[in-house]
Amino acid sequence: MKLFVDTADVDEVRRAARLGVVSGVTTNPSLAAQAGVSGMEGYRAAVAEIASIVDGPISIEVVSEDVEGMITEGKEYATWAPTPWVKLPSTAAGFEAMKALSDEGIEINQTLCFSVNQALLGAQAGAAAVSPFVGRVDDTGQRGMDLVEEIVSIYRNYGIRTQVLAASIRHPLHCVEAARAGAHIATVPCAVLEQMVKHPLTTVGVERFRQDWQRASGS
Ligand code: E4P
Repeated sequence: MKLFVDTADVDEVRRAARLGVVSGVTTNPSLAAQAGVSGMEGYRAAVAEIASIVDGPISIEVVSEDVEGMITEGKEYATWAPTPWVKLPSTAAGFEAMKALSDEGIEINQTLCFSVNQALLGAQAGAAAVSPFVGRVDDTGQRGMDLVEEIVSIYRNYGIRTQVLAASIRHPLHCVEAARAGAHIATVPCAVLEQMVKHPLTTVGVERFRQDWQRASGS
């Protein structure tokens, strides 16, 4: 399972990329706002900087809600990075725009996916990746990871090539479960990525090795 970092904050992208484990970045309008990015020029500049740090797909989300607007935005975003993934919502307009843009060879990340039916539609519309929002489903009292498991298993039935991108990841256990479910990618906030690194026995082990080495060396 590949790991993407879920942020529009360039400093966070840099921090995550330093670990050497990040294969892509997902952004959305809320993340851009949180990072202090505003306006199309600001978004473009942030994406360009992110693309100079991470060698992989950068997801850029449309804000239009109508088909024409989504297509216009999508075509523009497709010029912003070497490997742009245009993020389109799982709405009727979104599916129509997905089909139009994917027919032109633009890679689509189908976002805000909350059902298997939406994932089936996205695959037919040519999405390169579908993003089931695990944490937001958990918030409703349902198990979000069930959605990831079902999409992976149904796509496998038909050899569908759309990648399953587990999104709205809230903690390291989500990453383990997404990998267990067979998700191709998990997009993870920088803080969760850093939590994934940590294990108390690793910390203790490093310290013990240091002490033993110093004792043996008489220092
Ligand atoms: C995915 O691409 C989205 O940007 C993201 O995972 C949304 O997560 P949230 O539910 O934490 O906002």
